[in-house]
Amino acid sequence: MNPLNSPAKSTFDLPPYPYDRLEEIKGIAEANFGEYVDLSVGTPVDPPPSFVPHLLATSGAERGYPASIGSLALRKSAAWWIGEMFDVSIDPKHIAATVGTKEFVASLPGFLHLLNPERDVVLYPEVSYPTYKMGAILSGLRHFPVPMTKTGELLFDQVPNWAKEGALLLWINYPSNPMGSTADMEPAVVWARENGAVLVSDECYVEFVWSGSATSVLQHASQGVLALHSLSKRSNMAGLRVGFYAGDPEIVRFISEVRKHAGFMVPGPVQLVAAEALSENSHVEVQRRRYFERLEILHGALSEAGFKVQLPNGGFYLWFEGGDLGFKDGFEVARYLAERAGVIVSPGEFYGDASPEYVRVAVVAPTDLITLVASRLGGLGH
Ligand SMILES: Cc1ncc(COP(=O)(O)O)c(C=O)c1O
Repeated sequence: MNPLNSPAKSTFDLPPYPYDRLEEIKGIAEANFGEYVDLSVGTPVDPPPSFVPHLLATSGAERGYPASIGSLALRKSAAWWIGEMFDVSIDPKHIAATVGTKEFVASLPGFLHLLNPERDVVLYPEVSYPTYKMGAILSGLRHFPVPMTKTGELLFDQVPNWAKEGALLLWINYPSNPMGSTADMEPAVVWARENGAVLVSDECYVEFVWSGSATSVLQHASQGVLALHSLSKRSNMAGLRVGFYAGDPEIVRFISEVRKHAGFMVPGPVQLVAAEALSENSHVEVQRRRYFERLEILHGALSEAGFKVQLPNGGFYLWFEGGDLGFKDGFEVARYLAERAGVIVSPGEFYGDASPEYVRVAVVAPTDLITLVASRLGGLGH
């Protein structure tokens, strides 16, 4: 038999993409309101800084291949931003670009495994952005979701020995999606150091800290850690795909070399725009005000509708459950909100097995639509 006609059957069980599972709920909202307000995916809807279109069109950087590690201008601008935000001095040599940050989250485990083949376990908060787990799966590695308190502290004493001994990479997320927590990073820094794992802190929401001051893992350590940053949320540039990582010189060197071989490159014009956006803060201030206002409006309306919901310490999500109101799980809450207010939210099971009763609401619609949802819920929230 021709072997090409009988390929080995794949044992890879690709899970459904979480947001594809919301079609039924969108149908409920459409049936009642003719359309829906989508607060499920955390995709920015507000404008990027005003200089973006002109700079993109006139950069002259579209002809040649861009540097995979990122232009010196981008890396210098990122270093300046880190200094301003966190009062940490970092050499631009120890910073490298990413094409947005999701691809980095998904590909890092496999690349780190090349650096440390003895280790094969990826750890991440049990309630978290699903790509941490997916990155381990796509790299053929084992994974362990670290149990957490309700306020986002990781319970490292519940990590089993096999996961400790094999620990390659520990993810933390500050402020966290979906919980909005700003848990102290120090226990994770200590645990990762003691167990020989690389600690990567995903800080893509760090400009949206509402209580206390924003911190970075780079304030805690420089060896064995990376901080990951994105321009998607801070500058509403999710469609341009640009971010960066910074930290341990040897890890940055190795990972950026591997990524160069693999052809990860941020388009040249986008690098220029990102360098400019990182050196400019007034647009972030405007965005902070927008998100906080929307959080307050929906927080008020959902509270009036009977949900026990708290404003987050950071990020632009509300995270709450409907158990007290008799809802069986987050899918039921999501169906109810679609029916009553025409709004689409994400069931908690999208963020791990530990939170099926929760839902996440992203305040990523224009404020007038958020107000509309709030009024349908029975209160304007003020
Ligand atoms: C926690 C977290 N990390 C990373 C990302 C990826 O964002 P991007 O690829 O746009 O940088 C997201 C996107 O929602 C996120 O919520």
